[in-house]
Amino acid sequence: MSEPVIPVTPATPATPDTFPPAFLWGAATSAYQIEGAVREGGRTPSIWDTFSHTPGKTAGGDTGDIAVDHYHRFRDDVAMMAELGLTAYRFSVSWSRVQPTGRGPAVQVGLDFYRRLVDELLAHGIKPAVTLYHWDLPQELEDAGGWPERDTAYRFAEYAQIVGEALGDRVEQWITLNEPWCSAFLGYGSGVHAPGRTEPAATLRAAHHLNLAHGLGTTALRSVMPARNSVALSLNSSAVRPVSQDPADLAAARKIDDLANGVFHGPILHGAYPRSLFDATASLTDWSYVQDGDLAVIKQPLDALGLNYYTPTLVGAADPAASGPRADGHGSSEHSPWPAADDVAFHQTPGERTEMGWTIDPTGLHELIMRYTREAPGLPLYITENGAAYDDKPDADGRVHDPERIAYLHGHLSAVRRAIADGADVRGYYLWSLMDNFEWAYGYGKRFGAVYVDYATLERTPKSSALWYGQVARSGALPP
Ligand code: NOJ
Repeated sequence: MSEPVIPVTPATPATPDTFPPAFLWGAATSAYQIEGAVREGGRTPSIWDTFSHTPGKTAGGDTGDIAVDHYHRFRDDVAMMAELGLTAYRFSVSWSRVQPTGRGPAVQVGLDFYRRLVDELLAHGIKPAVTLYHWDLPQELEDAGGWPERDTAYRFAEYAQIVGEALGDRVEQWITLNEPWCSAFLGYGSGVHAPGRTEPAATLRAAHHLNLAHGLGTTALRSVMPARNSVALSLNSSAVRPVSQDPADLAAARKIDDLANGVFHGPILHGAYPRSLFDATASLTDWSYVQDGDLAVIKQPLDALGLNYYTPTLVGAADPAASGPRADGHGSSEHSPWPAADDVAFHQTPGERTEMGWTIDPTGLHELIMRYTREAPGLPLYITENGAAYDDKPDADGRVHDPERIAYLHGHLSAVRRAIADGADVRGYYLWSLMDNFEWAYGYGKRFGAVYVDYATLERTPKSSALWYGQVARSGALPP
């Protein structure tokens, strides 16, 4: 009798353009950017409703009041995803839709909306990934002090438990926070995001309380969900590069690396803030709001880590004589988002740029994936956002051709594939974004969608990139 032949699944795929068979091919969105229906079902204002309705805060005074009306069109949107060939979808829950004042009991209508959305996704064979917080804090919690206050982290844990209880039986993939850097540094530092405060010390307090919220929220989720579910968070980690090897430029790069990355992955992955971060910010804060036990709460074992990547960051020492706005790609404000970093200058990275002015450089994505592969060995990674804005317009035939976006996606997916070949455990990729939507302070002027939205009629038209991406998803391989 011959020995049975046991098939061996190769750890990495055989050909350079093929992805692992279980790789998730997704697209991402967030509640305020797509839902609209801001006054329906008992929803109350979030900080983004207040901010976008404040004159001068968003381009053209755009708001998310209607957005792309996904709240009413979600069934068609899910059908469209399935038709394109997507196997995963990352969306966020609007906190003030399910818990309008940010505390107390949940509103059933709000939870039911997300339950219906999830059921629709599952019925179409699309795996949902829920982000609990994508920047839309209930206004009442901001009125009580917002993220700089410790209580907001406890409120988040309560909210996480509510949503976990409601959806934990049908959603396996959970993300506590989306890009906490933006919530803290753009919301409380430069003020280009809601709530629009410009307080350097409060920025760092907010960062700590977001970390605490992540830790408390993770524990709360796990207390009510099946153990098989995965809890992660999505960081917009920066690939920070020094403009030269000069010691002053290297020191500038280290400082920005602490303020962009170390402030989150220090406590979350390693249970400690970098010493150098405390030293650099000592003139602003003594960090006494980091209480005994906080770091242990924050360093919850993660099931995965989400990386959002768009462009690298090039920095050097500032010329003391120079002044003026900083080209750090995070919107224009007289106030820097970077506390205690007046001695740092941001440089434009060379190369072609997208409509956001962000340089296209897939090597930064490979660099970040490999960094986390080294820093958090064994932790599965997901690219929870990556994409580009272009000035897309329908042709005379009504079709939208966006070869630049296809090139962008091809370049970045190749970088992901290369990282997998180099030993990284990347399990999925979520394109930002499924469809054109409210791009925060830029309003509707910047189109990130793979699907074009006509804002007059709200009609959706898949761009050529959506069809291309769907083909990649179906075949699990990149075309040459
Ligand atoms: C990151 C954010 O998570 C998302 O909301 C935003 O639209 C994209 N980047 C593009 O700026």
